[in-house]
Amino acid sequence: MAWALTPLTEEQQEIQHLAREFAAREIAPYSAAWDRDAHFEPSLVQKLGELGFLGMMIPEQYDGLGLDTLTYLIALEEIATVDASVAVMLSVHNSLPTQMLLRWGTEEQKERFLKPMARGELLGAFALSEPEAGSDAASLRTQAVLDGDSWVLNGTKAWVSSGTKGEVIIAMARTDTPDDRRGARGISAFIVTPDLPGFSVGKKEDKMGLRASPTVQLHFSDMRIPADRLLGHVGSGFIYAMQSLDNGRLGIAAQSVGIAEAALRQAATYAAERKQFGRPIKEFQAIQFKLADMATRVASARALLHLAARAKDRGEKIRQFSAMAKLLASESAMWVTTQAIQIFGGYGYIKDYPVERLFRDAKVTEIYEGTSEIQRIVIARELYSH
Ligand code: CAA
Repeated sequence: MAWALTPLTEEQQEIQHLAREFAAREIAPYSAAWDRDAHFEPSLVQKLGELGFLGMMIPEQYDGLGLDTLTYLIALEEIATVDASVAVMLSVHNSLPTQMLLRWGTEEQKERFLKPMARGELLGAFALSEPEAGSDAASLRTQAVLDGDSWVLNGTKAWVSSGTKGEVIIAMARTDTPDDRRGARGISAFIVTPDLPGFSVGKKEDKMGLRASPTVQLHFSDMRIPADRLLGHVGSGFIYAMQSLDNGRLGIAAQSVGIAEAALRQAATYAAERKQFGRPIKEFQAIQFKLADMATRVASARALLHLAARAKDRGEKIRQFSAMAKLLASESAMWVTTQAIQIFGGYGYIKDYPVERLFRDAKVTEIYEGTSEIQRIVIARELYSH
Protein backbone atom coordinates (compact mmCIF):
# COMPACT_ATOMS: atom_id res chain seq x y z
CA MET A 1 0.00 0.00 0.00
CA ALA A 2 1.52 3.25 -1.12
CA TRP A 3 -0.39 5.61 1.10
CA ALA A 4 -2.63 5.40 4.17
CA LEU A 5 -4.91 7.88 5.89
CA THR A 6 -3.03 7.69 9.17
CA PRO A 7 0.09 5.72 10.08
CA LEU A 8 -0.66 2.03 10.44
CA THR A 9 -0.31 0.49 13.88
CA GLU A 10 2.36 -2.13 14.45
CA GLU A 11 -0.28 -4.87 14.34
CA GLN A 12 -1.69 -3.54 11.07
CA GLN A 13 1.78 -3.44 9.53
CA GLU A 14 2.40 -7.03 10.64
CA ILE A 15 -0.86 -8.30 9.14
CA GLN A 16 -0.21 -6.33 5.96
CA HIS A 17 3.26 -7.84 5.71
CA LEU A 18 1.90 -11.33 6.34
CA ALA A 19 -0.72 -10.90 3.60
CA ARG A 20 1.86 -9.49 1.17
CA GLU A 21 4.34 -12.32 1.79
CA PHE A 22 1.65 -14.98 1.54
CA ALA A 23 0.29 -13.52 -1.71
CA ALA A 24 3.75 -13.28 -3.26
CA ARG A 25 4.67 -16.85 -2.30
CA GLU A 26 1.44 -18.85 -2.50
CA ILE A 27 -0.68 -16.96 -5.02
CA ALA A 28 1.30 -14.81 -7.47
CA PRO A 29 3.13 -17.69 -9.22
CA TYR A 30 -0.16 -19.44 -10.04
CA SER A 31 -2.66 -16.61 -10.65
CA ALA A 32 -2.37 -16.50 -14.44
CA ALA A 33 -2.90 -20.27 -14.73
CA TRP A 34 -5.83 -20.28 -12.29
CA ASP A 35 -7.41 -17.46 -14.31
CA ARG A 36 -6.80 -19.27 -17.61
CA ASP A 37 -8.20 -22.58 -16.33
CA ALA A 38 -10.95 -21.05 -14.15
CA HIS A 39 -9.40 -23.08 -11.35
CA PHE A 40 -10.26 -22.59 -7.69
CA GLU A 41 -7.35 -23.85 -5.61
CA PRO A 42 -8.78 -25.66 -2.56
CA SER A 43 -5.44 -25.86 -0.70
CA LEU A 44 -5.53 -22.07 -0.39
CA VAL A 45 -8.48 -22.25 1.98
CA GLN A 46 -6.52 -24.42 4.39
CA LYS A 47 -3.41 -22.25 4.13
CA LEU A 48 -5.34 -19.01 4.61
CA GLY A 49 -7.14 -20.67 7.52
CA GLU A 50 -3.82 -21.54 9.18
CA LEU A 51 -2.85 -17.86 9.04
CA GLY A 52 -6.17 -16.93 10.63
CA PHE A 53 -7.31 -15.08 7.49
CA LEU A 54 -10.68 -16.86 7.47
CA GLY A 55 -11.55 -15.61 10.92
CA MET A 56 -10.16 -12.11 10.82
CA MET A 57 -13.03 -10.27 12.50
CA ILE A 58 -14.28 -13.20 14.57
CA PRO A 59 -13.49 -12.82 18.30
CA GLU A 60 -10.86 -15.11 19.77
CA GLN A 61 -13.52 -16.87 21.89
CA TYR A 62 -14.85 -18.27 18.58
CA ASP A 63 -11.36 -19.16 17.30
CA GLY A 64 -10.88 -16.00 15.21
CA LEU A 65 -8.18 -13.31 15.25
CA GLY A 66 -10.53 -10.65 16.64
CA LEU A 67 -9.15 -7.91 14.37
CA ASP A 68 -10.92 -4.65 13.62
CA THR A 69 -12.43 -3.85 10.23
CA LEU A 70 -9.61 -1.60 9.08
CA THR A 71 -6.93 -4.23 9.68
CA TYR A 72 -9.00 -6.83 7.84
CA LEU A 73 -9.45 -4.48 4.86
CA ILE A 74 -5.72 -3.69 4.72
CA ALA A 75 -4.98 -7.43 4.42
CA LEU A 76 -7.72 -7.87 1.84
CA GLU A 77 -6.30 -5.06 -0.29
CA GLU A 78 -2.89 -6.75 -0.25
CA ILE A 79 -4.35 -10.06 -1.45
CA ALA A 80 -6.38 -8.26 -4.14
CA THR A 81 -3.29 -6.59 -5.60
CA VAL A 82 -2.16 -10.11 -6.52
CA ASP A 83 -5.39 -12.03 -7.14
CA ALA A 84 -8.91 -10.57 -7.02
CA SER A 85 -10.48 -14.06 -7.16
CA VAL A 86 -8.82 -15.07 -3.90
CA ALA A 87 -9.80 -11.68 -2.46
CA VAL A 88 -13.51 -12.17 -3.18
CA MET A 89 -13.46 -15.59 -1.52
CA LEU A 90 -11.94 -13.96 1.56
CA SER A 91 -14.28 -10.99 1.42
CA VAL A 92 -17.48 -13.04 1.18
CA HIS A 93 -16.41 -15.46 3.93
CA ASN A 94 -15.20 -12.77 6.34
CA SER A 95 -17.87 -10.13 5.70
CA LEU A 96 -21.08 -12.06 5.13
CA PRO A 97 -21.74 -15.60 6.47
CA THR A 98 -19.35 -15.44 9.43
CA GLN A 99 -20.56 -11.99 10.49
CA MET A 100 -24.18 -13.11 10.17
CA LEU A 101 -23.52 -16.13 12.39
CA LEU A 102 -21.63 -14.00 14.88
CA ARG A 103 -24.38 -11.42 15.09
CA TRP A 104 -27.55 -13.48 14.88
CA GLY A 105 -26.49 -17.10 15.49
CA THR A 106 -27.27 -19.07 18.65
CA GLU A 107 -24.40 -20.35 20.78
CA GLU A 108 -25.00 -23.83 19.31
CA GLN A 109 -24.82 -22.46 15.76
CA LYS A 110 -21.62 -20.59 16.60
CA GLU A 111 -20.07 -23.71 18.10
CA ARG A 112 -21.06 -25.90 15.17
CA PHE A 113 -20.47 -23.53 12.23
CA LEU A 114 -18.71 -20.31 13.19
CA LYS A 115 -15.75 -21.83 15.02
CA PRO A 116 -14.72 -24.20 12.20
CA MET A 117 -15.28 -21.37 9.71
CA ALA A 118 -12.94 -19.13 11.73
CA ARG A 119 -10.30 -21.87 11.64
CA GLY A 120 -10.70 -22.23 7.88
CA GLU A 121 -12.12 -25.76 8.08
CA LEU A 122 -15.42 -24.72 6.51
CA LEU A 123 -15.73 -22.10 3.77
CA GLY A 124 -18.70 -19.74 3.80
CA ALA A 125 -20.98 -18.46 1.04
CA PHE A 126 -23.96 -16.11 0.79
CA ALA A 127 -27.05 -16.80 -1.30
CA LEU A 128 -29.42 -13.88 -1.74
CA SER A 129 -29.78 -13.29 -5.50
CA GLU A 130 -31.90 -15.41 -7.81
CA PRO A 131 -32.19 -15.55 -11.60
CA GLU A 132 -35.16 -13.13 -11.43
CA ALA A 133 -34.12 -11.22 -8.29
CA GLY A 134 -30.85 -9.29 -8.61
CA SER A 135 -30.95 -5.58 -7.77
CA ASP A 136 -34.53 -6.09 -6.53
CA ALA A 137 -33.38 -8.58 -3.93
CA ALA A 138 -36.63 -8.42 -1.91
CA SER A 139 -38.51 -10.00 -4.85
CA LEU A 140 -36.76 -13.34 -4.33
CA ARG A 141 -38.98 -16.41 -4.73
CA THR A 142 -37.26 -19.34 -3.01
CA GLN A 143 -39.93 -20.58 -0.62
CA ALA A 144 -39.46 -22.08 2.82
CA VAL A 145 -42.38 -23.87 4.49
CA LEU A 146 -42.33 -25.12 8.07
CA ASP A 147 -43.21 -28.83 8.22
CA GLY A 148 -43.01 -30.36 11.67
CA ASP A 149 -39.52 -29.80 13.01
CA SER A 150 -37.95 -28.85 9.69
CA TRP A 151 -38.20 -26.24 6.97
CA VAL A 152 -38.70 -27.41 3.39
CA LEU A 153 -37.05 -25.15 0.80
CA ASN A 154 -37.70 -24.96 -2.93
CA GLY A 155 -36.02 -22.54 -5.34
CA THR A 156 -32.87 -21.50 -7.17
CA LYS A 157 -30.21 -19.10 -5.91
CA ALA A 158 -27.88 -17.39 -8.40
CA TRP A 159 -24.46 -15.70 -8.55
CA VAL A 160 -23.23 -17.50 -5.45
CA SER A 161 -19.51 -16.81 -5.01
CA SER A 162 -17.44 -19.79 -3.76
CA GLY A 163 -20.62 -21.72 -4.51
CA THR A 164 -19.02 -25.01 -5.56
CA LYS A 165 -16.89 -25.01 -2.43
CA GLY A 166 -19.16 -23.27 0.06
CA GLU A 167 -19.70 -25.53 3.05
CA VAL A 168 -21.82 -23.14 5.09
CA ILE A 169 -24.17 -21.08 2.96
CA ILE A 170 -26.42 -18.44 4.46
CA ALA A 171 -29.43 -18.50 2.14
CA MET A 172 -32.39 -16.16 2.15
CA ALA A 173 -35.85 -17.61 1.43
CA ARG A 174 -39.48 -16.49 1.72
CA THR A 175 -41.29 -17.60 4.86
CA ASP A 176 -44.49 -15.64 4.13
CA THR A 177 -47.32 -17.34 2.26
CA PRO A 178 -48.86 -16.60 -1.15
CA ASP A 179 -52.00 -15.36 0.69
CA ASP A 180 -50.03 -13.10 3.00
CA ARG A 181 -47.09 -11.58 1.16
CA ARG A 182 -44.98 -9.34 3.39
CA GLY A 183 -42.35 -8.02 0.97
CA ALA A 184 -38.94 -7.55 2.54
CA ARG A 185 -40.41 -8.65 5.91
CA GLY A 186 -41.43 -12.02 4.45
CA ILE A 187 -37.85 -13.28 4.10
CA SER A 188 -35.80 -15.35 6.55
CA ALA A 189 -32.18 -16.54 6.67
CA PHE A 190 -31.16 -20.20 6.83
CA ILE A 191 -27.91 -22.05 7.41
CA VAL A 192 -27.61 -24.41 4.44
CA THR A 193 -24.98 -27.13 4.06
CA PRO A 194 -24.37 -29.19 0.90
CA ASP A 195 -25.11 -32.48 2.70
CA LEU A 196 -28.83 -31.65 2.99
CA PRO A 197 -31.05 -33.89 0.85
CA GLY A 198 -32.44 -31.84 -2.05
CA PHE A 199 -29.38 -29.56 -2.29
CA SER A 200 -27.53 -29.45 -5.58
CA VAL A 201 -25.01 -27.20 -7.29
CA GLY A 202 -26.24 -26.00 -10.70
CA LYS A 203 -24.68 -24.08 -13.55
CA LYS A 204 -21.14 -22.79 -13.03
CA GLU A 205 -20.87 -19.40 -14.74
CA ASP A 206 -18.19 -18.90 -17.41
CA LYS A 207 -17.15 -15.38 -16.43
CA MET A 208 -15.18 -12.56 -18.06
CA GLY A 209 -13.13 -11.99 -14.91
CA LEU A 210 -12.63 -13.39 -11.42
CA ARG A 211 -12.31 -16.68 -13.21
CA ALA A 212 -10.60 -18.46 -10.30
CA SER A 213 -13.61 -17.78 -8.09
CA PRO A 214 -16.40 -20.28 -8.83
CA THR A 215 -19.78 -18.59 -9.24
CA VAL A 216 -22.74 -20.95 -9.39
CA GLN A 217 -26.44 -21.46 -9.14
CA LEU A 218 -27.73 -23.54 -6.24
CA HIS A 219 -30.90 -25.61 -6.46
CA PHE A 220 -33.05 -26.45 -3.47
CA SER A 221 -35.53 -29.18 -4.29
CA ASP A 222 -37.75 -30.14 -1.32
CA MET A 223 -34.59 -29.53 0.69
CA ARG A 224 -35.27 -30.28 4.36
CA ILE A 225 -33.51 -28.10 6.89
CA PRO A 226 -33.78 -28.84 10.61
CA ALA A 227 -35.65 -26.01 12.36
CA ASP A 228 -32.56 -25.12 14.37
CA ARG A 229 -30.87 -23.97 11.14
CA LEU A 230 -33.05 -20.86 11.00
CA LEU A 231 -30.76 -17.88 11.61
CA GLY A 232 -32.23 -15.28 13.95
CA HIS A 233 -35.92 -14.42 13.64
CA VAL A 234 -38.50 -15.39 11.06
CA GLY A 235 -39.09 -12.41 8.72
CA SER A 236 -35.77 -10.67 9.47
CA GLY A 237 -33.61 -12.33 6.79
CA PHE A 238 -33.73 -9.43 4.33
CA ILE A 239 -32.75 -6.92 7.02
CA TYR A 240 -29.87 -9.21 8.08
CA ALA A 241 -28.76 -9.51 4.44
CA MET A 242 -28.84 -5.73 3.93
CA GLN A 243 -26.96 -5.02 7.16
CA SER A 244 -24.39 -7.63 6.22
CA LEU A 245 -23.98 -6.17 2.74
CA ASP A 246 -23.09 -2.86 4.44
CA ASN A 247 -20.03 -4.79 5.66
CA GLY A 248 -19.60 -6.79 2.48
CA ARG A 249 -19.43 -3.65 0.37
CA LEU A 250 -16.40 -2.50 2.36
CA GLY A 251 -14.71 -5.78 1.41
CA ILE A 252 -15.50 -5.26 -2.27
CA ALA A 253 -14.19 -1.69 -1.98
CA ALA A 254 -10.90 -3.05 -0.55
CA GLN A 255 -10.73 -5.58 -3.38
CA SER A 256 -11.27 -2.72 -5.85
CA VAL A 257 -8.54 -0.57 -4.28
CA GLY A 258 -6.18 -3.56 -4.50
CA ILE A 259 -6.95 -4.08 -8.20
CA ALA A 260 -6.46 -0.36 -8.90
CA GLU A 261 -3.23 -0.21 -6.89
CA ALA A 262 -1.83 -3.15 -8.86
CA ALA A 263 -2.77 -1.52 -12.19
CA LEU A 264 -1.14 1.76 -11.10
CA ARG A 265 2.09 0.03 -10.05
CA GLN A 266 2.29 -2.06 -13.20
CA ALA A 267 1.60 0.93 -15.46
CA ALA A 268 4.18 3.09 -13.66
CA THR A 269 6.83 0.36 -13.98
CA TYR A 270 6.03 -0.22 -17.64
CA ALA A 271 6.12 3.52 -18.41
CA ALA A 272 9.63 3.71 -16.93
CA GLU A 273 10.87 0.78 -19.05
CA ARG A 274 9.06 1.26 -22.34
CA LYS A 275 10.88 3.56 -24.76
CA GLN A 276 9.30 5.34 -27.72
CA PHE A 277 10.65 8.31 -29.67
CA GLY A 278 14.00 7.70 -27.96
CA ARG A 279 12.84 8.10 -24.34
CA PRO A 280 10.96 6.19 -21.64
CA ILE A 281 7.27 7.01 -22.12
CA LYS A 282 7.03 8.20 -18.48
CA GLU A 283 8.80 11.34 -19.68
CA PHE A 284 5.82 12.30 -21.83
CA GLN A 285 3.30 14.54 -20.15
CA ALA A 286 0.39 12.58 -21.61
CA ILE A 287 1.56 9.53 -19.63
CA GLN A 288 2.48 11.54 -16.52
CA PHE A 289 -1.01 13.06 -16.37
CA LYS A 290 -2.60 9.64 -16.66
CA LEU A 291 -0.41 8.21 -13.88
CA ALA A 292 -1.09 11.26 -11.68
CA ASP A 293 -4.86 10.90 -12.11
CA MET A 294 -4.65 7.15 -11.48
CA ALA A 295 -2.65 7.67 -8.26
CA THR A 296 -5.09 10.34 -7.09
CA ARG A 297 -8.10 8.09 -7.62
CA VAL A 298 -6.47 5.16 -5.84
CA ALA A 299 -5.58 7.37 -2.85
CA SER A 300 -9.07 8.91 -2.65
CA ALA A 301 -10.80 5.53 -2.86
CA ARG A 302 -8.55 4.13 -0.12
CA ALA A 303 -9.07 7.20 2.07
CA LEU A 304 -12.87 6.99 1.88
CA LEU A 305 -12.74 3.25 2.54
CA HIS A 306 -10.57 3.72 5.62
CA LEU A 307 -12.89 6.46 6.92
CA ALA A 308 -15.85 4.10 6.50
CA ALA A 309 -13.95 1.27 8.24
CA ARG A 310 -13.12 3.51 11.18
CA ALA A 311 -16.78 4.60 11.42
CA LYS A 312 -17.82 0.94 11.51
CA ASP A 313 -15.26 0.17 14.19
CA ARG A 314 -16.70 3.03 16.26
CA GLY A 315 -20.09 1.30 15.98
CA GLU A 316 -21.64 3.95 13.75
CA LYS A 317 -24.27 3.25 11.10
CA ILE A 318 -22.41 2.86 7.81
CA ARG A 319 -25.15 2.16 5.27
CA GLN A 320 -24.39 5.32 3.26
CA PHE A 321 -20.66 5.34 3.94
CA SER A 322 -20.12 1.76 2.74
CA ALA A 323 -22.16 2.41 -0.42
CA MET A 324 -20.01 5.50 -1.09
CA ALA A 325 -16.79 3.59 -0.46
CA LYS A 326 -17.81 0.77 -2.80
CA LEU A 327 -19.05 3.16 -5.48
CA LEU A 328 -15.89 5.24 -5.52
CA ALA A 329 -13.51 2.29 -5.24
CA SER A 330 -15.16 0.12 -7.90
CA GLU A 331 -15.53 2.92 -10.43
CA SER A 332 -11.94 3.97 -9.71
CA ALA A 333 -10.76 0.39 -10.28
CA MET A 334 -12.50 0.28 -13.65
CA TRP A 335 -11.15 3.68 -14.67
CA VAL A 336 -7.61 3.05 -13.43
CA THR A 337 -7.35 -0.36 -15.12
CA THR A 338 -8.65 1.17 -18.37
CA GLN A 339 -5.92 3.84 -18.22
CA ALA A 340 -3.34 1.17 -17.42
CA ILE A 341 -4.27 -0.78 -20.56
CA GLN A 342 -3.90 2.45 -22.56
CA ILE A 343 -0.40 3.04 -21.18
CA PHE A 344 0.58 -0.52 -22.09
CA GLY A 345 -0.89 -0.01 -25.59
CA GLY A 346 -1.00 -3.23 -27.60
CA TYR A 347 0.84 -5.08 -24.81
CA GLY A 348 -2.05 -4.27 -22.49
CA TYR A 349 -4.42 -6.05 -24.81
CA ILE A 350 -2.69 -9.42 -24.72
CA LYS A 351 -2.19 -11.94 -21.95
CA ASP A 352 1.61 -11.56 -21.72
CA TYR A 353 1.10 -8.98 -18.97
CA PRO A 354 -1.31 -9.34 -16.01
CA VAL A 355 -2.83 -5.91 -16.63
CA GLU A 356 -5.58 -7.30 -18.89
CA ARG A 357 -6.69 -9.60 -16.04
CA LEU A 358 -6.93 -6.61 -13.72
CA PHE A 359 -9.16 -4.88 -16.27
CA ARG A 360 -11.43 -7.95 -16.54
CA ASP A 361 -11.50 -8.45 -12.76
CA ALA A 362 -12.32 -4.79 -12.09
CA LYS A 363 -15.59 -4.84 -14.03
CA VAL A 364 -17.52 -7.05 -11.64
CA THR A 365 -16.81 -4.75 -8.69
CA GLU A 366 -19.25 -2.30 -10.30
CA ILE A 367 -21.86 -5.07 -10.43
CA TYR A 368 -21.84 -7.47 -7.48
CA GLU A 369 -22.87 -6.79 -3.89
CA GLY A 370 -25.06 -4.10 -5.44
CA THR A 371 -24.44 -2.37 -8.77
CA SER A 372 -23.11 1.19 -8.90
CA GLU A 373 -26.68 2.27 -9.63
CA ILE A 374 -27.91 0.54 -6.44
CA GLN A 375 -25.11 2.20 -4.43
CA ARG A 376 -26.29 5.57 -5.75
CA ILE A 377 -29.87 4.73 -4.72
CA VAL A 378 -28.70 3.81 -1.20
CA ILE A 379 -26.61 7.01 -0.93
CA ALA A 380 -29.41 9.25 -2.22
CA ARG A 381 -32.08 7.65 0.02
CA GLU A 382 -29.90 8.17 3.07
CA LEU A 383 -29.78 11.90 2.32
CA TYR A 384 -33.49 11.99 3.23
CA SER A 385 -33.54 9.46 6.06
CA HIS A 386 -32.94 11.82 9.00
N1 CAA B 1 -29.60 -1.99 6.97
C1 CAA B 1 -30.70 -2.28 7.73
N2 CAA B 1 -31.94 -2.34 7.19
C2 CAA B 1 -32.06 -2.10 5.88
C3 CAA B 1 -30.96 -1.80 5.06
C4 CAA B 1 -29.68 -1.74 5.65
N3 CAA B 1 -28.58 -1.47 4.93
N4 CAA B 1 -31.41 -1.61 3.79
C5 CAA B 1 -32.75 -1.79 3.83
N5 CAA B 1 -33.14 -2.08 5.09
C6 CAA B 1 -34.50 -2.33 5.58
C7 CAA B 1 -35.36 -1.10 5.38
O1 CAA B 1 -35.25 -0.19 6.46
C8 CAA B 1 -36.74 -1.73 5.32
O2 CAA B 1 -37.16 -2.04 6.64
P1 CAA B 1 -38.67 -1.84 7.14
O3 CAA B 1 -39.38 -3.06 6.66
O4 CAA B 1 -38.57 -1.76 8.59
O5 CAA B 1 -39.19 -0.59 6.49
C9 CAA B 1 -36.49 -3.04 4.59
O6 CAA B 1 -35.11 -3.34 4.79
C10 CAA B 1 -36.76 -2.96 3.13
O7 CAA B 1 -35.91 -1.93 2.62
P2 CAA B 1 -36.23 -1.12 1.30
O8 CAA B 1 -37.68 -0.71 1.30
O9 CAA B 1 -35.20 -0.06 1.16
O10 CAA B 1 -36.04 -2.28 0.22
P3 CAA B 1 -36.03 -2.23 -1.34
O11 CAA B 1 -36.78 -3.40 -1.84
O12 CAA B 1 -36.40 -0.87 -1.84
O13 CAA B 1 -34.47 -2.54 -1.68
C11 CAA B 1 -32.20 -2.03 -2.13
C12 CAA B 1 -33.44 -1.76 -1.28
C13 CAA B 1 -31.13 -1.09 -1.56
C14 CAA B 1 -32.42 -1.73 -3.60
C15 CAA B 1 -31.76 -3.51 -1.92
O14 CAA B 1 -32.69 -4.39 -2.54
C16 CAA B 1 -30.38 -3.79 -2.47
O15 CAA B 1 -29.38 -3.51 -1.81
N6 CAA B 1 -30.28 -4.42 -3.68
C17 CAA B 1 -29.02 -4.93 -4.18
C18 CAA B 1 -28.85 -6.36 -3.74
C19 CAA B 1 -27.41 -6.78 -3.66
O16 CAA B 1 -26.55 -6.02 -3.25
N7 CAA B 1 -27.16 -8.03 -4.00
C20 CAA B 1 -25.85 -8.59 -3.92
C21 CAA B 1 -25.94 -10.05 -3.66
S1 CAA B 1 -24.47 -10.83 -3.07
C22 CAA B 1 -23.41 -10.90 -4.41
O17 CAA B 1 -23.25 -9.97 -5.09
C23 CAA B 1 -22.67 -12.14 -4.74
C24 CAA B 1 -21.47 -12.39 -3.94
O18 CAA B 1 -21.43 -13.41 -3.30
C25 CAA B 1 -20.30 -11.49 -4.02
